[in-house]
Amino acid sequence: MSNFLSAYSIQSWLESCPQGYLMDTEYGHQPGEKEPDFNLDNEMMREDALRTTTQLVLGERCALAASSGLINCAPDYESKHFLATQTLDEARHVEIFTQRMYDLGVKKDDLESTLKHFGNPNLVKFAEVLLEKVDKKDFIAGVVGQNIVLEGMAFSVFEMLKAVNENSNPKFAHVLAGTIADERRHVGFGENRIGSLITEHPERKPEIEQMQKDMTYHMLATFAEAFSDRESTYEEARKVTGANEGEGVVWHGANLTELEPKDMEGVLADTVLKEFKTRLGRIGLEYQSPARPRAA
Ligand SMILES: [Fe+2]
Ligand SMILES: [Fe+2]
Repeated sequence: MSNFLSAYSIQSWLESCPQGYLMDTEYGHQPGEKEPDFNLDNEMMREDALRTTTQLVLGERCALAASSGLINCAPDYESKHFLATQTLDEARHVEIFTQRMYDLGVKKDDLESTLKHFGNPNLVKFAEVLLEKVDKKDFIAGVVGQNIVLEGMAFSVFEMLKAVNENSNPKFAHVLAGTIADERRHVGFGENRIGSLITEHPERKPEIEQMQKDMTYHMLATFAEAFSDRESTYEEARKVTGANEGEGVVWHGANLTELEPKDMEGVLADTVLKEFKTRLGRIGLEYQSPARPRAA
């Protein structure tokens, strides 16, 4: 376990994260960077930015509850140390995305009602499946649900958002870059720690695979809702950011500046599911395919 120890210790977290890529950042971005004017002056764009950021806050709140909850049921101190660093990472993610809500003009007193207004109900169900395992102090299921499923999803969503915002919103792209670096570490822990536990407890496989199937269902429903009726918003975004005039942003073989919302949903879902299959395979689980939900 010595490699595991050094890669996921508090010491390496300190060196690579707060003393590394987060050095001199302010709420995850470079000091002085601001939201572009179109996100503040154009109501359609502002609402779209608030809707997106709301899902990030809700997802990160779930990760904070899960990572902190898992500390007390972790079977060894190396895992507890890592989960303590992850807990601080997740609290930071909640804070920086909440700060973005404020930067977009939400008043502190209106934060919770705004999150409720824009929150995707399918994402809430997704979180509930995971937090139920954490509440039962089920370490193996909790780590698979959090570090493989939730964070595998978050990782791809953040990467896609970063690609879309790279040219038009450097502030948000920088916030996402630091978050992606954190998530990469979290996903790595999940794969490295949980494989051996699953080998020791093969009897847990069916229940864990069922959880993965349920979470995947709610995730696909989240995507279906997030990408439905977005055509006019996409058109507006391409107009105000001048995305049509540039060379476009290619992500996983698709030009994101040209795709319709439904195709964007397809690219994201395919990317996440492919990642799930690979990562679950590495820890000895078989990906379970849920029904494909459609937006109501
Ligand atoms: Fe996170
Ligand atoms: Fe994370």
